[in-house]
Amino acid sequence: MKLAVPTETRPGERRVALVPDVVKKLVAAGWDVAVQSGAGVASFFDDPAYAAAGASVTPDAAATYRDASLIVTVNAPDAGAAPLVPEGAVLLSFFQAAQSADTLRALAARRATVFSFDLLPRISRAQGMDALSSQSTVSGYRAGLSAAEHLAKFFPMFMTAAGTVPPAKVLVMGVGVAGLQAIATARRLGGVVKAYDVRAAAKEEAESLGATFLDLGVSAEGAGGYARELSDEELARQRDALAAEVAASDVIITTAAVPGRAAPVLVTTAMVEGMAAGAVVVDMAADSGGNCELTVAGEVIDHGGVHIVGLANPPSSMPTHASFLYSRNVANVLALMTTDGTLAPDFDDEIVAGMCVVREGVAVSPGAVEVLGGTTEGSGA
Ligand code: NAI
Repeated sequence: MKLAVPTETRPGERRVALVPDVVKKLVAAGWDVAVQSGAGVASFFDDPAYAAAGASVTPDAAATYRDASLIVTVNAPDAGAAPLVPEGAVLLSFFQAAQSADTLRALAARRATVFSFDLLPRISRAQGMDALSSQSTVSGYRAGLSAAEHLAKFFPMFMTAAGTVPPAKVLVMGVGVAGLQAIATARRLGGVVKAYDVRAAAKEEAESLGATFLDLGVSAEGAGGYARELSDEELARQRDALAAEVAASDVIITTAAVPGRAAPVLVTTAMVEGMAAGAVVVDMAADSGGNCELTVAGEVIDHGGVHIVGLANPPSSMPTHASFLYSRNVANVLALMTTDGTLAPDFDDEIVAGMCVVREGVAVSPGAVEVLGGTTEGSGA
């Protein structure tokens, strides 16, 4: 069983799908692991570390993919790499069918089976495999740090001989895994934190981390523990209720997302114009359109002295630990899908079935059906 770890093809990506420690365990479990030379360099895992862990270090993508029965990546390979995937191979990665339609078509033509962490059911048994959560933890931490870096003020309260400095007022919008980590990070830095979400369950979680929860009377529980999309009327009501809180904040951190949809716009240009110069908006949803109307992914915009930080691919900015956590998630999925040392995914298992995008070239998830045609068999988006 050959497991391939090619170099990521997404521009700017610094993570690697497997770190040497986890390669060592997989080699011990019987995998023949091939790692493309340089695949781990941007996350500070070099070729000798992989060789010492028992992997063969391959010179290029073609040699890495050759004869692989399993390919593990962080992002979907680009369409140029897809023809290198051997017939009938299995790919495990974050794979959004709509965003990688060309790759998906090429993989389906090669009768590949694709599993995506985006589709993992968020059930207790799947927690160790939950790369959405592990990478969101990194993103939330990064968002807290970015806010502190761009704010022209202290986060903590300082009582000095020269006078007392009040703590920064932080508002976190969207209290999922990333939002909770942003709250924890902002609190550790000494900020006074308020939080807001449309799911009622978020209140207790935010409060347990020391944030004050804002109840704006808009509730939007959706399927699978996620939020549903708000109606235009609900969104307008939400923005009206938030405007005064936004204006009074030094820092806004936004992480709001609805699976399969563009990020909801929670902070309008008018709301930014109501903030004091020197304030900061850190938008963690920048890659999916942004929660702030002014956000540009990967850029810091100055709008009347308010800085809007559009975080692009935040987990990649902390590649060592993001890769470490992702590797553990991968190993746990492989443990679930391996029987007697052989890769044998049990499609009656709700985690295996839920993660499946295509099975031997046939569309399973609704996203894959949209790209490839056919009928929906899976439960994911
Ligand atoms: P996400 O990344 O899909 O969304 C982030 C947050 O944005 C969510 O809390 C969502 O409610 C919020 N949001 C969406 N629209 C909003 C709006 N208009 N205004 C304000 N907030 C808005 O969420 P994530 O982090 O993937 O978590 C989704 C759910 O999965 C949560 O309920 C979480 O607790 C649950 N979960 C369960 C796990 C388990 O093992 N049981 C593991 C991880 C997450």
